[in-house]
Amino acid sequence: MFDSENLPTINSGRICLRRLTAGDVDSLFSIFSDPEVMRYWSSTPLEDTKAAEKLLADIDDGFQKRVLFQWGIARRADDCVIGTCTLYHIDTDNRRGEIGYALGSEHWGRGYMREALTLLIDFCFGRLKLHRLEADVDPKNNSSIKILERLGFRKEGFLRERWLVGGEVHDSLIYGLLASDWLGNLEARQNEIR
Ligand SMILES: CC(C)(COP(=O)(O)OP(=O)(O)OC[C@H]1O[C@@H](n2cnc3c(N)ncnc32)[C@H](O)[C@@H]1OP(=O)(O)O)[C@@H](O)C(=O)NCCC(=O)NCCS
Repeated sequence: MFDSENLPTINSGRICLRRLTAGDVDSLFSIFSDPEVMRYWSSTPLEDTKAAEKLLADIDDGFQKRVLFQWGIARRADDCVIGTCTLYHIDTDNRRGEIGYALGSEHWGRGYMREALTLLIDFCFGRLKLHRLEADVDPKNNSSIKILERLGFRKEGFLRERWLVGGEVHDSLIYGLLASDWLGNLEARQNEIR
């Protein structure tokens, strides 16, 4: 499905999706140890930088096996990693995958994730030729739901008590986006950016 040796670097106006390296461990720790960011995540906040090093090793390993594409979202101005976005649960036979994303809380409300996910989705439907993308969101995670709906994802299902994280039970909303939805909306998206 993807035979290049490295995770590609993808640029847009303010941000760059790039491979995460050892120099990004502190940024990863800062993002994934923040209880606000991890409120609706599928695991509890990282406790120390060792856990962030392990996260980075898992990201590298997942890419080597081509089961996980997780980019750092770096600001082009200073190359600082402010979040990550991910394609995983890839099913090549059915040409589908799931997306995940997180942004450091101090960077919320500036459209960075929307910019990042636009690049990610273009890559998935363009370069990888996927047919369908999915996202699994906590029904209480309003900002995540907002971004998915703005990108054209449709609400397709509600799964009860799908997650048990840190002693709490969470439901899931399943959102889906088809390549045809995305390509059909191209003109509307371009008009919004102008
Ligand atoms: C989900 C998450 C990434 C959304 O972050 P966000 O900053 O709200 O998302 P966006 O990048 O799309 O920014 C949109 C907001 O920026 C505003 N904005 C400001 N400048 C903008 C610009 N140049 N372009 C677009 N939007 C802009 C928009 O108006 C919008 O604000 P609103 O939500 O008040 O209407 C963030 O809340 C997060 O990381 N949460 C924790 C992790 C998580 O739950 N991930 C999802 C798991 S399913």
